[in-house]
Amino acid sequence: MTTTVPVSGGDFRPYEVVVGRGLLAELGPRVAPLARGRTVVITDETVASLHGKAALASLKAAGAPGRLLTVPPGEGSKSFAELERVIDRLLAFKLDRTDVVVALGGGVVGDLAGLAAALYMRGIDFVQVPTTLLAQVDSSVGGKTAIDTPRGKNLVGAFHQPRLVLADVDLLATLPERQLRSGWAEVLKHGLICDAAFFDWLAGEGASGAAGDPAALERAVVRSVEIKAAVVGEDEKEAGRRALLNLGHTFGHAIEAELGFDETKLTHGEAVALGCALAFRFSAAMGLCPAVEAGRVEAVLAAAGLPTRLKEAGDVRGAALLKRMAGDKKAEGGRLTLILARGVGQAFVDKDVDAAAVASFLASEGVG
Ligand code: GLY
Repeated sequence: MTTTVPVSGGDFRPYEVVVGRGLLAELGPRVAPLARGRTVVITDETVASLHGKAALASLKAAGAPGRLLTVPPGEGSKSFAELERVIDRLLAFKLDRTDVVVALGGGVVGDLAGLAAALYMRGIDFVQVPTTLLAQVDSSVGGKTAIDTPRGKNLVGAFHQPRLVLADVDLLATLPERQLRSGWAEVLKHGLICDAAFFDWLAGEGASGAAGDPAALERAVVRSVEIKAAVVGEDEKEAGRRALLNLGHTFGHAIEAELGFDETKLTHGEAVALGCALAFRFSAAMGLCPAVEAGRVEAVLAAAGLPTRLKEAGDVRGAALLKRMAGDKKAEGGRLTLILARGVGQAFVDKDVDAAAVASFLASEGVG
């Protein structure tokens, strides 16, 4: 079964996210109507060896022949140097504005290829074919593209919506288990933000998705994409509601930064899971959310093999986390913006969080 989720609203051209199984074989027929000329498939070396041939064969058979442009796997490719190299290759291929870039890979490839497409000739069309769970449920949808600089992650980028997203759940079968679980954290996040029934399903019958069950994964991807599409349709540029998608990210990003973004210690998804557990416990500590709800969130995340306590992340200090969360040296005296919750499915943006309250909360978590 294939499910099509429309993404529309705001100022951008509407597009579809197609979720299903066996979709890579349909890449050519689905992309050919968008490309009047040629295609370039940007991918990384790992994904190229797994799916590169199939992607090119499908494009060629459909009359939209493509070339493969590979980048090294890993976050290091989200750099000015790699962006320049990619754009230089597109120039060498003499791509023009009737051609289409296909981003075949996880979040790194999607962010880099999307930004290259946004900049090349002032913007050409691109299609996302996400190959990780995290990319299928989050980064491939919504048009955020970016690279990192030594001063921080995702600091240079553009909003550039794809023309189409093809989320082939079969591609997740080759993912390492830890990466799948990390993507599951973003799935759970969507339930926590605004769909308690979805969260209940993920905690019960749907939990097999975290272990790779394709039917559960497909349903989880569809509902996550529906939630993300609705939020992006309302608020493409994150003037308001889109910030809800950052649930768990303010705590999570600070922890990742403290660990030097070392994915062997803590993956992004694990940081988000830990961040969600902290956001719920902080909400409970502030009297906003019943403690029993925060406890349940923690239990469901832990059952999916995700971290929920700071000690699981290694050596992180509360004061250092707070400083990173506040983004300046006067962290304790200031006010923070955090995504908090009144319960499962009831997240909200609080732009006036007392940093001192966060400091005492972190102390109560044993990392003061
Ligand atoms: N990953 C958060 C967003 O797309 O807004």
